[in-house]
This record gives sequence, C-alpha cells and structure tokens, in this order.
Amino acid sequence: MHIQHYLQFKDLNADEYGYLFQRAAFIKQKFKAFEKHQPFADPDRTLALIFEKASTRTRVSFEAGMYQLGGSVVHLTTGDSQLGRSEPIEDSAKVISRMVDLVMIRTYEQAKLESFAAHSRVPVINGLTNEFHPCQILTDLFTLAEHRPAASGLPLDAIRGKVVAWVGDGNNMANTWLQAAELLGFTVHVSTPSGYEVDPVLAGIANRNCYKVFKNPREACAGADLVTTDVWTSMGFEAENEVRRTAFAQWCVDESMMAAAKPDALFMHCLPAHRGEEVMAEVIDGPQSVVWDEAENRMHAQKALMEYLLLGRL
Ligand code: CP
Repeated sequence: MHIQHYLQFKDLNADEYGYLFQRAAFIKQKFKAFEKHQPFADPDRTLALIFEKASTRTRVSFEAGMYQLGGSVVHLTTGDSQLGRSEPIEDSAKVISRMVDLVMIRTYEQAKLESFAAHSRVPVINGLTNEFHPCQILTDLFTLAEHRPAASGLPLDAIRGKVVAWVGDGNNMANTWLQAAELLGFTVHVSTPSGYEVDPVLAGIANRNCYKVFKNPREACAGADLVTTDVWTSMGFEAENEVRRTAFAQWCVDESMMAAAKPDALFMHCLPAHRGEEVMAEVIDGPQSVVWDEAENRMHAQKALMEYLLLGRL
C-alpha cells in the first residue's frame, strides 16, 4: 500500500498545496472561533514526535495541533529513548509505526529520515533535517497568501510569480525555498556569503530558472515581495559559529534591505532569531514583519497536513 510521507516539499504537488492552504485557513478560522474540529477523535489517532535536536515551535505546534484535532501525542527524544543508544533506525521505525498513526521526526541527516520512512507502516513528516524544513515553507507560503491574497482568492495565485529574497545561509530553509519555487512558480533571489551557496543538486531541483544568485544581499532584496532569512549557524553546525560570524557580517537584514524591496514587502524569519546578527531589531520588530503570525501558522498548516496525510481530502 502506498504511504504518503512528507519528507521534502516536493513530496506533494501544486494541486495538493492549493488544497492544504485552503484547508489550513478553514482550520485556523475554527480555532479562532473556539469551534471544535476533531477528525482524529474517533477512532483516536496518535502522533509520535521524535526529536534529535532542540525545538520550541515545532514541538508546541505539532503537540497542541494534534490534541486540538482530537488525537494523542507520544514524545520521544534521543536522550530518553533507545534512539540515543544505537538502536537501528530501521528497527525503531518498525516498532514505533506499529503503535501510532503518524510520525514526525526532527533529526540530522535526511538519509536517516528516509530510512525511517522506508520502514514505517504510517506516514512520516520531516520536522527539520540538515537538508530540508518543508513544514516551515508550507507555513511561510500560507502566511504570504494570507497577508497578500490574490484577487481570485486562490492561495496559489497569491504565490505564483512572486519574488522571495533569501539572505544568509544556503541551508535547509534555502533548499526548501528552491523546491517550493520550482513547484509553485515563483522566484527566489538568493544571496549568501562565499562558501555558503545553495547547491541545486542538494536542494533537489531540476529547473535552475527558479532562483537567481546575487553577491550583494541588497540587490537580492530589490523588488522582492518577501524578504526572509535564518540564523547564521544552524543546529548541528555550532563548531563553525565564530567563522560564520565573520563570514556572514554583511548578511544582516536591515532597513536598507527592506527599503530595496517592494513597499508592501513582508519580512519572515522561521525563528529563533538573533537580533543584531541575521536581522536587525528594527526589521523583525517593525511594521513589515509577520513573524508572530508565521510562528502561529505552523500549527494551522500542520493540522491541515496531518489531516490530509491520514484522512485525505475532506
Ligand atoms: N522554526 C522552527 O522550526 O522552530 P523550532 O526550532 O523552535 O521548532
């Protein structure tokens, strides 16, 4: 039987994203109106959350979201399970997926997540790997469509043709932005320091026209609909912290970069943020920033995703 996993952004197609964005808006509306929406209550569905790296937003959004959908959650970390004591990932997948309905994993290598999924009886969701962070980009695009809706009312129309400026590290977020741009028809202006460029092969894209590279981050922001960035040092790369501080010094999103973007451009950051490093306080706490809506929307978008993976279109 085919199991629909969500390991990379391109695991779903544009039509499925169109459905998910609309469903997330419906689920958010229910939440805001204090109306119950519990498709996982009967029969009760259980989500296993497996964290090999730290998290605030991913844990809270998945855990709260699952309970709101009427389901239950089991939380595991490397430190409190046999995952940290060398039990093979394949064995863990076979056992855990016999007891729960859905698994979310935050880990290091994408290959580890793929191994788990290959041996799982239930859908597996990528909660962040070194290579990709699809739940975050799903959310960011939902947030973009919410704040800058198309005249048609269709979220995909709000996204198609847009320009997203990526300023900073060519990391898991940048890779996922490229996959999303290829799939949904927008362009990413990428500006990274030398040595931290995106790699289209690692990003898993075939069409190199979905992004443009800029040496100067201000030029990358010119005419952008959305300016976005991430920490200079992602989890797992802490040993490079000091070297990165020097390399990334010019890649701090400031007011001059926002001024180069469209007048109604938005600013996003997946958080946690370091004010004065990758973004100035005036930007992240300024009028163009939607980072708090973006953080909240993780929960609404992932509720739509979990519902879709388990129950299909409702
Ligand atoms: N953006 C994000 O994934 O946040 P956490 O690391 O807190 O989960």
